[in-house]
Amino acid sequence: MSKPRLSDLRELAKKHLASAYAPYSRFPVSAVVVSKSGHAYVGVNVENSAYPLSRCAEQIAVGAMVAAGDREIELVLVHSTASPPAAPCGACRQIISEFAGPNTPILCVNDAGEERRFTIGELLPAAFRLDEPQ
Ligand code: THU
Repeated sequence: MSKPRLSDLRELAKKHLASAYAPYSRFPVSAVVVSKSGHAYVGVNVENSAYPLSRCAEQIAVGAMVAAGDREIELVLVHSTASPPAAPCGACRQIISEFAGPNTPILCVNDAGEERRFTIGELLPAAFRLDEPQ
């Protein structure tokens, strides 16, 4: 499968921001995880009245990728309304890094067209891995 275009991924994330379930924080987030196989998986944050049970958009998107049988992340796009655009939280960095290499791009965007680009290695250096020498 050919790689999806970045402009299409931006549109996909923007469109899905409206599906975020964030009645408590009023901080909607959508995420698109693109696998090496070229599929795009969408996630939104899903909050809960028992607040700690809330789930981040990135976690839902990674879960969708894994459920579909994909295991390798090509890039992650995170869309929020924050300025500057919100970067993934610490837990999401670890979850992304499970299926990514240190140079995997993480693009953070917002409605205003602002963008921040990172790699997961920059966001989470020395990520925990079971197979790393301790
Ligand atoms: N949130 C995400 O979806 N992704 C992140 O990386 C950071 C935070 C969500 C969780 C919660 O629903 C809302 O943003 C405010 O923290």
